[in-house]
Amino acid sequence: MAGDSYQDTLFTPSADASRHTRSVITSTDLSALINDSADSRQEPYAVDVDAGKNTTLYQAHSYWTKVPPQGIRPYIDHFTDPGDLVLDPFCGSGMTGIAALSESRRVVLNDLGSAATHIAYNYNTPIDPDRLELAVDKLEAEVADFFEWLYTTECTDCGETREIKNTIWSEIRECPHCGETFNLWEPAVIDEKVEERKNGFVRDEFDCPACETSLTKTDPEYRGIEVSRIEYKCTPCFGRKYGLKEPDEADRQLLEDVSDTLEETELWYPTDDFPDGYNTRQPIQKGLTSVDKFYVDRALLAMAKLWDEIQRWEEDAVREKLEFVFTAIANRTTRKHAFRPWGGAGNSATLFVPTFHREQNIWVTYSRKANDIVKAQTELYEQYPEDLDNYLRVHNGSATDMGFLPDNSVDYVFTDPPFGANINYSEMNFVWESWLGRKTDVELEAIVNSKQDKDVADYELLMRESFAEIKRVLKDDHWMTLVFNNSKAEVWNALQQSLRDAGFVIAQFATFDKQQPTLQQITSEGAVGQDVMVACLNVDDPTEIGESLTEDEIVRHVRQLLPELAEKTDRRTARGIYSSVVGFALNNRRSVDNLDFETLVETLERHFEAKTLEYERPYKDVVVEQTLWYVE
Ligand SMILES: C[S@@+](CC[C@H](N)C(=O)[O-])C[C@H]1O[C@@H](n2cnc3c(N)ncnc32)[C@H](O)[C@@H]1O
Ligand SMILES: [Zn+2]
Ligand SMILES: [Zn+2]
Repeated sequence: MAGDSYQDTLFTPSADASRHTRSVITSTDLSALINDSADSRQEPYAVDVDAGKNTTLYQAHSYWTKVPPQGIRPYIDHFTDPGDLVLDPFCGSGMTGIAALSESRRVVLNDLGSAATHIAYNYNTPIDPDRLELAVDKLEAEVADFFEWLYTTECTDCGETREIKNTIWSEIRECPHCGETFNLWEPAVIDEKVEERKNGFVRDEFDCPACETSLTKTDPEYRGIEVSRIEYKCTPCFGRKYGLKEPDEADRQLLEDVSDTLEETELWYPTDDFPDGYNTRQPIQKGLTSVDKFYVDRALLAMAKLWDEIQRWEEDAVREKLEFVFTAIANRTTRKHAFRPWGGAGNSATLFVPTFHREQNIWVTYSRKANDIVKAQTELYEQYPEDLDNYLRVHNGSATDMGFLPDNSVDYVFTDPPFGANINYSEMNFVWESWLGRKTDVELEAIVNSKQDKDVADYELLMRESFAEIKRVLKDDHWMTLVFNNSKAEVWNALQQSLRDAGFVIAQFATFDKQQPTLQQITSEGAVGQDVMVACLNVDDPTEIGESLTEDEIVRHVRQLLPELAEKTDRRTARGIYSSVVGFALNNRRSVDNLDFETLVETLERHFEAKTLEYERPYKDVVVEQTLWYVE
């Protein structure tokens, strides 16, 4: 549990004067950010927030469910004037800051997670990109020899010493029949598929190499991991393609030497035990009980070396950005990173440890990320106001208590709050926060999570306190836009009740077409689906909430809705229709307490016609199905 030391931390953008990841900044003077104009927009407003996810800026540093700045910008333009103050009380990676600052608005970013405020702060305090580039070069010079030792192998064709790019690890399994252990790769992986970069590279059934009993992937038990293949660069032999080899004696010796070095090293690395949680359960079952064990030895040693060099940096503003690059790779370099023959491994909001792991060359990964971050910083450095001190504060604390902000000081709130049990932020942020040395104070985390002993009532209470606090700091008759998504009636109900109790009126509820369903949306029913935008007005006397919708009313609404939709659109999915029904209830101030996703699907089945379409995406060989609904 975190102490009080940083919960009140208010980061000012004068990065040179602050070591924000280590100490407390007490400059709480916000007067430059606040105006006393009472003007406000009359009309609600909603557009899709999904634009701009394929930009270097957006992808420079990951976070769980990011809303792209390009999507937020139209809201800022509609609801505020230049110089106005925008607040995001659940800011995550601080995308609202980018939208606001690049439009000359002032902004306060707040989040409970210290990883979130680390990311939000660094995204929004760009330094001169030349300084960062120079620093990365200098860092490379510092670590070059060490990294050369870590990532060297012999080319199987020409025998020259070459640089290792990736190392593919496979699980060791124990045969339930003969008790022998074996490297799963050998009997289970289809090497041609790996070479052709295709999916379906693991056999459904294979024989135990010792006793030849037929096994499936789940039969033999986990007994650790071992290197299976090494990808390295040898331009004379393979051109731009990587060479792929089985580890030889020297490769195995190197890994042993690395492990010995790690055992004796004086370099610091985090050894924090994972908390008992939802996402941590699977890694803990595999024996990965702490953050250090989440990395293979070589990756951990390389990360520890980098972190050590970064911590020695003298200029704080530069050191912070080098740390920012570091945290941007700190998850994808763990054993959570799956090996997939076609490349990347996605970045799902889980800590799931896969059977096959691709260990990346840490310097290759770091320097690539540094390039992206330099590009992102260049873009912002040019757009941002020069006197950033008068425009930005980043605060690490709970939205339930924003005492650092005076009453009636904020012109507009744009925020994407946690949605019930969808994502366990404090668990997902644990690796980052262990390196940063500051953990989220989970007691105030707004979430439904039985491991934290929190049910929907606890979530509702935290949301109500947050909305009450937002109401206090937001000027009268001013707006708050919420990005929200959930398929559970009880969570919608918690949102509806807590908004009303705090003194907000839901003025508009909007959903948007998503052209292409993402793999996550289609494959896992519990996954986050379509975003909905809820416009809330801060009023004196919010109206009462009426009875819940009857099945008849729901059917009538859907009968009206479907003919208005395009023939193929994901608004015709059960999920899209669900959002529409919830919106219908909220817009009409009717209770949403009976609107569960499962219940709606049953209603659809009784009254409407389903057609199933097949899509081939996003990877070769992966066909996904999508069910759309029509009036019979
Ligand atoms: C949906 S995310 C925001 C993501 C953000 N829109 C982005 O683009 O990165 C919700 C955030 O709420 C934070 N959170 C949870 N409980 C909180 C609380 N009581 N006060 C402030 N933030 C909280 C989580 O740490 C998480 O970062
Ligand atoms: Zn070669
Ligand atoms: Zn066997």
